[in-house]
Amino acid sequence: MATHRGKGGTIKIVSVVNYKGGVGKTTLTANIGAEMARRGNRVLLVDLDPQASLTLSFYHPEQWREYLQPYRTIKHWFEGWSPEGHARDPRELVDTPAKAKFYVGGRGQLDVIASDLTLSDVEEDLVVAAARHGAARERHDHLRVFGRLRDAFRGLPPDAYELVLIDCPPSFGMLTRSALVASDFVLIPARPDELSTVAIEHFMDRFHRFRIAYDDAASKIGSLDPEDRVSARILGIVFTMVRFHGSVPILVEQNFINLPRAGIPVFETVVRESHSLYADAAGQNIPMVLSEQAPDKNVAEMRTLVTQFVHRIGEVDHA
Ligand SMILES: Nc1ncnc2c1ncn2[C@@H]1O[C@H](COP(=O)(O)OP(=O)(O)OP(=O)(O)O)[C@@H](O)[C@H]1O
Ligand SMILES: [Mg+2]
Repeated sequence: MATHRGKGGTIKIVSVVNYKGGVGKTTLTANIGAEMARRGNRVLLVDLDPQASLTLSFYHPEQWREYLQPYRTIKHWFEGWSPEGHARDPRELVDTPAKAKFYVGGRGQLDVIASDLTLSDVEEDLVVAAARHGAARERHDHLRVFGRLRDAFRGLPPDAYELVLIDCPPSFGMLTRSALVASDFVLIPARPDELSTVAIEHFMDRFHRFRIAYDDAASKIGSLDPEDRVSARILGIVFTMVRFHGSVPILVEQNFINLPRAGIPVFETVVRESHSLYADAAGQNIPMVLSEQAPDKNVAEMRTLVTQFVHRIGEVDHA
């Protein structure tokens, strides 16, 4: 993987986003992360969704309630953050889910920062904090609100991880914006249907406007910090839950996949629909790609997609 300096130094930080719910963001985050770890990379998954689906795909609810919720969730990071930089060491929030570790094997590492159902309260606090931006000092603080997650990754040693994947909630609220400010890249999962197409256009429009507003605010306060810019670049759209007829997507879905998308690249490999497989894997507390019971064809598909993901990061990084 390329070693250009990004938001997390040499760590590549990728937000997985889509306005629309239930398009496979969490499933894709878990599987890409697991496959990257299986290949020997050090990977950190951050669950930024108050629904905590990513967290619960690696932990039993009791484990989460007992060991993670009281001390180690992303909520603790946001709550402990202060402008003076007295926040906790982000590594204290990290956990290594035991079952996934076993299936990843010895070479790689798959860590998780869990979420919390009350992360939605954090979102509200961030909205209130960001609303204060009249005077110059407040304008500075306003920007720092969006930078809180970025500060967490700045606190990691450069060799801690090769890849951080942030699973975002299905909205464009403060949490998603914080993720975008912290990220080098954006990955957009989508279903091959009309609503997903509209949701992608909506996201791109909001992302564009947010970037302009943020960068403008950074210029106004005279910030010369290159990290005070929204510099995340779009890796592309991954179509998920695609229905197949034989070895190809059904025609109506292939037509959606083929639609021109104003310069946003589309990953060649799509993730096919398999309700039993993905639902079962969630119950097993390991992503599908690590499961010994998963059919070869689904595992191969995910591995090919991950190879393209790595390739795209290299391409976009050097563009
Ligand atoms: N390829 C697939 N085939 C069938 N079902 C899938 C597939 N991928 C994910 N699912 C299932 O679809 C549901 C939604 O997936 P997932 O949670 O990954 O979406 P999401 O975009 O993260 O949703 P949300 O917006 O609520 O966070 C889950 O029950 C998941 O198990
Ligand atoms: Mg999700």
